Amino acid sequence: MKLLLTVLKGIHKPAVYVSHRRCLSSCASGGLLPHSDEPLIVGSSRELVQRLGSQVEVRTAFITEEEERAFLRELESGLKKKRYEFDHWDDAIHGYRETERVSWGAACEEVLNRVRSAAFPEGSPLLGPVHILDLDKTGYIKPHIDSVKFCGSTIAGLSLLSDSIMRLVKEDAANEWLDLLLPRHSLYILRNEARYNFTHEILKDEESVFNGQKVPRQRRISVICRNLPD
Ligand code: OGA
Ligand code: MN
Repeated sequence: MKLLLTVLKGIHKPAVYVSHRRCLSSCASGGLLPHSDEPLIVGSSRELVQRLGSQVEVRTAFITEEEERAFLRELESGLKKKRYEFDHWDDAIHGYRETERVSWGAACEEVLNRVRSAAFPEGSPLLGPVHILDLDKTGYIKPHIDSVKFCGSTIAGLSLLSDSIMRLVKEDAANEWLDLLLPRHSLYILRNEARYNFTHEILKDEESVFNGQKVPRQRRISVICRNLPD
């Protein structure tokens, strides 16, 4: 698994800056909105939001506060033994510590089964260990595409402790982008083109502005499930 994580982090692209955005927005289907008129997905064009929208989901309030506490109880002591890593210039992730876990207590296992049935087709072989990434308040994830050698078509992640913004940018066309608002307790799912042809990143606090609105970044833990390549 160490190898997988190294490979995941080893593939990244330089950051892309888009100025003078003209935002068009659409609501992700199936989710409860944090505020009734607030979109969860905005992008560079209506066409892109519509086309890619079917391969990107954000489900708000996917877990309860109590379920978040269950994950923290299982994860915190192991994470606390590690130090946040900041200074590796070639890492795709800055200000993080991470772990992985195969077996879980009943409360977390129940949530993970919900994630699996929301995100993956029945019978799709999954990567055994679940990946846990703990980002410091100042931590962030640079644009990258997860290794196609080790991970399949779908990536699903729970966000604990903080809201954040995930930016997708088309690999060969930096003017095509989507921003996803990932509220604390939400689940996001990236599939197919969104996973293979777009880089994804988690914005640092200073850049964490969604659709014109500041989204303060706190410490954030993500719990990520992936399937295996075909
Ligand atoms: C990764 C990644 C996103 C997240 O670890 O490859 O993109 O939600 N993580 O933490
Ligand atoms: Mn990734």
